[in-house]
Amino acid sequence: MAKITSGLGTSHIPLLGHIIDKGDSSDEKWAPIFDGYQFTKKWIREQKPDVVILVYNDHATAFDMKVVPTFAIGCGEEYRPADEGYGARPVPTVKGAPELAWHITESLIKQGFDMTIVNEMDVDHGLTVPLSMVFGEVEEWPCQVIPLAVNTVVYPSPTGDRCLALGKGIRAAAEQFSEDLNIQIWGTGGMSHQLLGERAGLINQEWDLAFLDDLKNDYEKLGVISQVEYIRESGTEGSEMVMWLIMRGALNQEVNEIHRHYHVPVSNTALGHLIYENVDKKGE
Ligand code: DHB
Ligand code: FE
Repeated sequence: MAKITSGLGTSHIPLLGHIIDKGDSSDEKWAPIFDGYQFTKKWIREQKPDVVILVYNDHATAFDMKVVPTFAIGCGEEYRPADEGYGARPVPTVKGAPELAWHITESLIKQGFDMTIVNEMDVDHGLTVPLSMVFGEVEEWPCQVIPLAVNTVVYPSPTGDRCLALGKGIRAAAEQFSEDLNIQIWGTGGMSHQLLGERAGLINQEWDLAFLDDLKNDYEKLGVISQVEYIRESGTEGSEMVMWLIMRGALNQEVNEIHRHYHVPVSNTALGHLIYENVDKKGE
């Protein structure tokens, strides 16, 4: 039986991909950022996930105003790193997990989540920067990835409650898959940041830290935060944080937070990162 064993949250700040690609990630000046991922790099080598369900948002790369899917799941064999205007990142092609992805898609649609099915797309920094932060510089990504793209760019985004419910649906679906797989789910994006407009540069540390605290046990209460409230409190792009609720919804009610890292600022963003392991209870 497949099992979702743990969840991970991380920002996806493009600057960090650029630093890694230039070979500068061990430069002392970036240590306060990258040191917070040392634990994670060791942990993931021990965990050896077979598949990561990577919840992310596309930044007008694979999708633009012509087509804006609310929830899109990658059922393809592979996804190339996108050219976002300065050449594709020199990172490996992302290998999909089509069988599991189709299984999850079928189950989700039967559960009432009208997923958009994507067989071909390039993946931008929203997906590749989290992979680089966790796995570092590698020849091949060490696991398969199911991209799950969420619209956080064009109003209206899905609600937090819907994201929590989708997470629960993903868990139910994954656990019906007969192959023995160690699956992780990652929620990415955020934390507070606003890239454009009068409030560009906005960071709200108090809001971010309260979000991280509530995510562990009081996550149901985060489900009512509207997109407008995210934008008001944490900046326009702070609304990416709703994706962390999909990750949280897919885990057990009880989790152990085994790691947390928060650093302000990185580029224009408050960087947040944490790891949850499911607390396994008999009968759960
Ligand atoms: C930055 C952060 C993002 O989430 C993003 O998508 C693009 C840029 C930044 O802080 O520079
Ligand atoms: Fe972003």
